[in-house]
Amino acid sequence: MKTRRIGTSCIEASVIAFGAWAIGGGTWWGETVDNESIRAIRAAIDEGVTLIDTAPVYGWGRSEKVVGQAIKGMRDKVVLATKCGLWWHDDQGPLFFELEGYTVRRWLNPETIRHELEDSLRRLGTDYIDLYQTHWQSSEPENDPISDTMECLLRLKEEGKIRAIGASNVDVTQVKQYQELGILDAIQPRYSMLDRQIEKELLPYCIENNISSLVYSPLEQGLLTGKIGMDKTFSSGEYRNNLPWLQPLNRKNVLNMLESWSDLTDKYACSLAQLVIAWTVDQPGVTFALCGARKTENAIENAAAGKITLEAEDAERMRKEVEALGEPL
Ligand SMILES: NC(=O)c1ccc[n+]([C@@H]2O[C@H](COP(=O)([O-])OP(=O)(O)OC[C@H]3O[C@@H](n4cnc5c(N)ncnc54)[C@H](OP(=O)(O)O)[C@@H]3O)[C@@H](O)[C@H]2O)c1
Repeated sequence: MKTRRIGTSCIEASVIAFGAWAIGGGTWWGETVDNESIRAIRAAIDEGVTLIDTAPVYGWGRSEKVVGQAIKGMRDKVVLATKCGLWWHDDQGPLFFELEGYTVRRWLNPETIRHELEDSLRRLGTDYIDLYQTHWQSSEPENDPISDTMECLLRLKEEGKIRAIGASNVDVTQVKQYQELGILDAIQPRYSMLDRQIEKELLPYCIENNISSLVYSPLEQGLLTGKIGMDKTFSSGEYRNNLPWLQPLNRKNVLNMLESWSDLTDKYACSLAQLVIAWTVDQPGVTFALCGARKTENAIENAAAGKITLEAEDAERMRKEVEALGEPL
């Protein structure tokens, strides 16, 4: 498994990370079995994955609890990344969304960050978080300034409760605001070969500034594994119903492209999921791929992508072909 450093911190982590959103289950992901999730996390660790990304909002604490159970007795083997800033415990902060009877607000106030951190530490069964990330930035008009948030995060770092600071769903302006006060080691943006928007500005800025990226949804929630066929449907409310690339015509175009890569999967003796993940972590500015999984076989398959190195001409061919797909209709 290849490893890389998180920003300028001394934390080294596997390029393939275990993404723990789906193990939170609920409306977004449907039925999920905790024991199977625990097996999947442990299998990923056995295959060399050290980085695990979770968040309080994934199943209202369920994902963090399951991760905590899975890593019991192995804390020193993993790099734990979790998040703060999606707040549902009272009515402070601007509304973000409502789900399963909870009202979630984007709120990055120093007081609530401390509250969230203590909850996360308890659920994860640890006394420190390796990478603590703001999940979604506060929005106008009731926003918390990034300066207040960063000041709080820097203090938590001094106290040894967190080891590195990250920010998710940010643009370059917001990254600069974090940097005005101290070191931002990582960002967590959405990125897949079908969604390359951050290549224009954000990734080049991160390369110049030694900021790592943990990219999310690199498999377009399963579509890029080639295993979601034309007949597959999702229950009402499931997150995947919203993905433009999963709509029938777009899905067909992606599946055709994936099928045409059989010579590449033969050449690298790998699956499509592995080919796509290897391509993703090969892109300039992409440091880690957060691969979501809740089944053991998927976790093992994704982890093995961390050993594959694509030849430049193959990676370039894949880029040309995804670019030819254009935007989803
Ligand atoms: N910061 C943010 O705002 C944010 C947003 C989204 C995600 N994230 C993070 O990024 C992680 C990954 O993103 P994601 O879960 O949205 O998308 P993803 O990694 O693109 O897709 C995950 C889903 O794809 C399917 N899958 C994964 N590997 C597979 C394989 N080898 N074979 C077949 N199917 C496979 C699984 O679906 P089934 O489980 O249904 O089989 C899995 O749950 C999350 O877990 C989370 O840690 C962060």
